[in-house]
Amino acid sequence: MNDKTIDSILEETRQFPPSKESSTGANITKEELEQLKKQASDDYEGFWAQLAKENLYWFKEFTTVLNEENAPNYEWFGDGEINVSYNCLDKNVESSPNKTAIIFEAENGDTRRISYKELLEEVSLFANGLLSLGVETGDRVIIYMPMSPEAVVAMQACARIGAIHSVVFGGFSSNALKDRIDDAKAKIVITADGAFRGGKTIPLKQATDNALKDWNHSIEHVIVLKRTGESVSILEGRDLWWKDLIKNQNKESTPVPLSSEHPLFILYTSGSTGKPKGIQHSSGGYLLHAKMTFKWIFDIKDSDVFWCTADVGWVTGHTYVTYGPLAAGATILIYEGAPTYPHGGRFWEICEKHQVSLFYTAPTAIRALMKLGDDIPNKYDLSNLRLLGTVGEPINPEAWMWYHTVIGKEKCPIVDTWWQTETGAAMISPLPGVTATKPGSCTQALPGISVDIVDEGANPVNQPNKGGYLVIKKPWPSMLRTIWGDNERYIETYWEKFDNKYYVAGDSANMDQDDFFWIMGRIDDVLNVSGHRLGTMEVESALVAHPDIAEAAVVGMPHEVKGEGIFAFVVTKGERPLGAMKNEVTETLRSWVSDQVGPIAKPDEIRFSDNLPKTRSGKIMRRLLRSIAKGEEITQDVSTLEDESIIKQLQQNE
Ligand code: PRX
Repeated sequence: MNDKTIDSILEETRQFPPSKESSTGANITKEELEQLKKQASDDYEGFWAQLAKENLYWFKEFTTVLNEENAPNYEWFGDGEINVSYNCLDKNVESSPNKTAIIFEAENGDTRRISYKELLEEVSLFANGLLSLGVETGDRVIIYMPMSPEAVVAMQACARIGAIHSVVFGGFSSNALKDRIDDAKAKIVITADGAFRGGKTIPLKQATDNALKDWNHSIEHVIVLKRTGESVSILEGRDLWWKDLIKNQNKESTPVPLSSEHPLFILYTSGSTGKPKGIQHSSGGYLLHAKMTFKWIFDIKDSDVFWCTADVGWVTGHTYVTYGPLAAGATILIYEGAPTYPHGGRFWEICEKHQVSLFYTAPTAIRALMKLGDDIPNKYDLSNLRLLGTVGEPINPEAWMWYHTVIGKEKCPIVDTWWQTETGAAMISPLPGVTATKPGSCTQALPGISVDIVDEGANPVNQPNKGGYLVIKKPWPSMLRTIWGDNERYIETYWEKFDNKYYVAGDSANMDQDDFFWIMGRIDDVLNVSGHRLGTMEVESALVAHPDIAEAAVVGMPHEVKGEGIFAFVVTKGERPLGAMKNEVTETLRSWVSDQVGPIAKPDEIRFSDNLPKTRSGKIMRRLLRSIAKGEEITQDVSTLEDESIIKQLQQNE
């Protein structure tokens, strides 16, 4: 482990027990929680089987719950047949066809409401459109779209016919899109002419065209939603408009019964190499945990309006926008644009306008909005809010307290949910009617989820506030099944460390005297920038792909709003840039990385040197670079350095 694995120095003693209002009538009461935990520990498979039978509709009921034959490639409910879209749409149309499924708020303030019945119709039209293009069960479909109801329609339509979707975040560049198309060997790209964000437009179709240029790709068709109205090129025979595709389709479509293990989606995420991992999720097991955690953690009631601010390009936008809430028949809000456009009160204005009652966002957004001052949220009526959530990175107690007092008016429980792209759904989180929360702690594991902290030897660290590896000790239904096309990497990354016994999350954590979890950070070379994962290698590969760059090393540094910022150490070919030239090269490299990966990967700081600090055996001393990035004094042993004078150059930034 690196230097993040220190003992916890954060001492947070404040506690907030659930209020009477949040415990009365909560979906999970103290007694029910104890009962669920007891059931899970008495009969683990029986516990999940019962939930799966009671909460999901099966075309064919499963007889096997957990199959461990090919561990750690576990299977759940494998001989059962299910359709995720049927569970999210048809089931709710049967009971409440006119209930609002989606409230859409455009960046310019236009609003659209879509009922469950209308959503099913749109999904059916589009699913039939995909079938008409020859899309078959198991084909891969890339979704590269703005935040819009149509993004959800596209995902649900894939699920309906058994196509495996892979959503690529609209902020990723054409290069990143190309890599994902290539790895997934996708047949279709669904995109839009553009996306509105922060008062600008993002040319998604143009990026798609660039991604498909000059190589022998697998894409047969590109479907284009008209959103911004900007002119785009349409390649005859390959490209077609969304509205033309659905024009003559049938409004009804038959959901295909699929094995519970059928891959619902692949979602690419960063790891410690330059190549993103295609995290593969299942149908039945994934949907079960998405739905259960949504009901338990967000305490959903029929009258609630739930707003998760995550983009569908991230896992949070899969589980708590598209699948969990719709499976639970909830009303969700989708907002198209940027949090502070056209003004800093946009989020709170939307909460007031649509009477949002459950609000779920990331610490980076909370910090950015906190910086704008209390006057802004205080202008809006936030009295409908009854629960607040956070996800994506550790929340600092100061931001937690602001969220609690200024936004929640000290009456809304805060659910700090720990999970990952790989876990599929939340794993550690308070339950609003039961758990006393502490600012900065994601508290305790959910029923049926077995989490622990272990040392190098896989022994539990049974000591308060002592750090160790966060592991999951039992397979769970929504776990990733593999890395698309690379099962070896799956085993190596998540299981080998402790002999395939425990799932290794890649985070370090500690537990306090009340057995509450505190996440300390990543233990691998992965950064958490604004709650999004980025591999240092990904940024390094992008930098060295520039013709003028010889070497690069990237580390994280503390950042007030983003949580973690990107610090790049770069060696250029030829002369080291100085003076005005340095600023010029810095800007060139920042936009180069943005083009290669996407704006989120732009280095916050770039420092040039004649060489990188290496040991005599040629290994870059990353710990040293991390200290320099933080502006710390160098106290570590540098005697193994090839050239000690390089430290001064790196520190002085001349
Ligand atoms: O380091 C943890 C952090 O985000 C990582 C997972 O990132 P990703 O797969 O992009 O998914 C983010 C949304 C689920 C974790 O390994 N993380 C996530 N939630 C929390 C967190 N760190 C602290 N507290 C959280 N609540």
